[in-house]
Amino acid sequence: RISRRRIECRRDIHRMNIPFLDIYESLKPSEEEKAKQKQLMALLEKHVNKEWPEARLYLYGSCANSFGFKKSDIDVCLAIDDLNVNKSEVLLKLADILQADNLQNVQALTRARVPIVKLMDPVTGISCDICVNNLLAVINTKLLRDYALIDERLRQLAFIIKHWAKSRGVNETYQGTLSSYAYVLMCINFLQQRNPAILPCLQRMERTYAVNVDNAECAYFDQVEKLVGFGSQNRETIAQLVWEFFSYWAFYHDYTNEVISVREGITLSKHEKDWTRRVGNDRHLICIEDPFEITHDLGRVVDKYSIRVLREEFERAAEIMQYHSEPWVTLFEPY
Ligand code: GTP
Ligand code: MG
Repeated sequence: RISRRRIECRRDIHRMNIPFLDIYESLKPSEEEKAKQKQLMALLEKHVNKEWPEARLYLYGSCANSFGFKKSDIDVCLAIDDLNVNKSEVLLKLADILQADNLQNVQALTRARVPIVKLMDPVTGISCDICVNNLLAVINTKLLRDYALIDERLRQLAFIIKHWAKSRGVNETYQGTLSSYAYVLMCINFLQQRNPAILPCLQRMERTYAVNVDNAECAYFDQVEKLVGFGSQNRETIAQLVWEFFSYWAFYHDYTNEVISVREGITLSKHEKDWTRRVGNDRHLICIEDPFEITHDLGRVVDKYSIRVLREEFERAAEIMQYHSEPWVTLFEPY
């Protein structure tokens, strides 16, 4: 186990704030793009409501959680109350209806892990995936968006980390590295644990929002407008936080014993969760607890090869942040 002796942050860290903030600004989607997404949603709603008047459409994932880059596709969830609904039938029917309009490349992928209809709207140029009754994703999207409203540093940090992960090829779950969702949870938990804290733990506060989905109780304090300024005692800037984030995952995280938990705002022990050994395909080599599906480890995709790739990338990033004169240039170099 690596010693926990603190490495001291470089003295000139503050001159890196502006370059990092410029990168963040350059990745943010424009208002025009968001308007186009709304336009496409309205079109989809029109078609859906003709067939299923009671159904609703929700945006989820990066287009709605406020951690999306520009020019990303949109993820939509069709919520139908009928519990006995056959998802494949709904998707095939939906594909039929949408095909009739001039939407392009409409395809129903009924056998995927998350079955969807894919399509492209030639008017807005936006591609879209539609799933059925994946309400947990809609609710965890709201949780992420609510956290982002409390302190702007979360969005800044998560954009930099996601951009780094995409550039370095470690944002590919099918290759055993982590999803964007997992990286955002790592950023939230990291900011919950700063001293003084930059983010609170919403699931441990008064429950102002509560729903039951798929046997999971999803409840937390969602009046986040009351929490603006929560982290103002902490003056850390984006460059410092990026430096600390990488140095944490490179040198201080205890991969053998710890679980990252946004739900508790701390790290839990693997022992407590019984995540100490491989069960089926879940190896638990890096553990990130889903905030609502608490038996679900978002690190389950990581295997003994990809854990090395990930840790080497964290170490590379930490070193660049410590020693390079212009870290924002080398950090995002394609692998
Ligand atoms: P990019 O597309 O990379 O910009 O990021 P994204 O925010 O869309 O993230 P991602 O594609 O990883 O996931 C999309 C959404 O699916 C997330 O916001 C979650 O709502 C949901 N999601 C992804 N992975 C999981 C998972 O393992 N469990 C659950 N419950 N939800 C997930
Ligand atoms: Mg996505």
